[in-house]
Amino acid sequence: MPFLKRINLDWDNVPPADEHQFPFQMPVLRSLSTLHLESNVTFLTGENGSGKSTLLESIGHSCGFSIIGGKDLVISKQKDNVSLASIMRLSWMPKVNSGFYFRAETFDAFANYIDELAEDVGSSAYGPYGGKSLNERSHGQAFLTFFNNRLDKKGLYLLDEPESALSPQSQLSFLRLIWELEQSGQAQFIIATHSPILMAYPHAQILHFSESSIEPIQYEETEHYSLTRDFLNNRDRYFNMLFSDDE
Ligand SMILES: Nc1ncnc2c1ncn2[C@@H]1O[C@H](COP(=O)(O)OP(=O)(O)O)[C@@H](O)[C@H]1O
Ligand SMILES: [Mg+2]
Repeated sequence: MPFLKRINLDWDNVPPADEHQFPFQMPVLRSLSTLHLESNVTFLTGENGSGKSTLLESIGHSCGFSIIGGKDLVISKQKDNVSLASIMRLSWMPKVNSGFYFRAETFDAFANYIDELAEDVGSSAYGPYGGKSLNERSHGQAFLTFFNNRLDKKGLYLLDEPESALSPQSQLSFLRLIWELEQSGQAQFIIATHSPILMAYPHAQILHFSESSIEPIQYEETEHYSLTRDFLNNRDRYFNMLFSDDE
C-alpha cells in the first residue's frame, strides 16, 4: 500500500491577493480538495499545460525535496511553481523522508551540478552515478544510470516525464526497475507521463487531468493508449487526415 495516502488542498488558505494568480487560478487545481493515492504507482496524465508538473513539483516541495544539496535533487525554476505547496497537506502512514523529485527538463542542469561537485570533491561525486560523469553518457543512458543508481528500495519518487530520453526498450527496463522496487513494498511512485508504455504498469492508478478536474481513468480509456494504438494500426487514415489541404 502507498505510504503517501492523501493530498489535501486547503483553498481557504489562499491569500485573497493571490486568488486569481498562477497557480491558484487554475480550474483543474481548484477542483481538487482531496486526492487519494490508492496504489504504489500513480500516473498523472493529461494534455500539455494541464497542471501535472505544477501539482507534482508542489508535492515535492511539501516533502522537502526541491533543493540541491541535503536532500539532493535539483531544482525548482521559480518560487511561483511551488506556491501551491502553501495550501497543501500530505497524509502519510507511515511518514517517509527519503525519496526525490526528478524533472526531466532540468536533468542536464543536474548532470552539470554533479560535474561541478566532482571538481571540488573529486571523482567520488560520481560514485552514486556509475562512477563517471553523466555528461559522458548519452541522454538516455544517463537517465537510466541515474534511475538505476538513485532509486532505492525505500522512498517516495516523484518523476516528471522520466520517459523523455528513453527508447522504448529502455522504457521496458525502467518498468522492470519500478517493479523491483515496488516488490520491496516500500517504494512509492508518482509519475507524470505521456508514455503509453509506462502507464501500462499493472495495477497502477492513473489520474487524468482535464481542464476542470482530475479523475481516475482506466488505461484503455486514456487517449495515450487509444490514439497510439489507432495510429499504429491506421497510419494511412491519419496521414490522409493530417496532410489534406482542406482544413
Ligand atoms: N511559473 C509559472 N507562472 C505562470 N504560469 C505557469 C508557470 N508554470 C506553469 N504555468 C502555466 O500553468 C499551466 C500548467 O503548467 P504545467 O503544470 O507545467 O502543465 P503540465 O505539466 O501538465 O504540462 C500551463 O498553462 C503553464 O503555462
Ligand atoms: Mg509538465
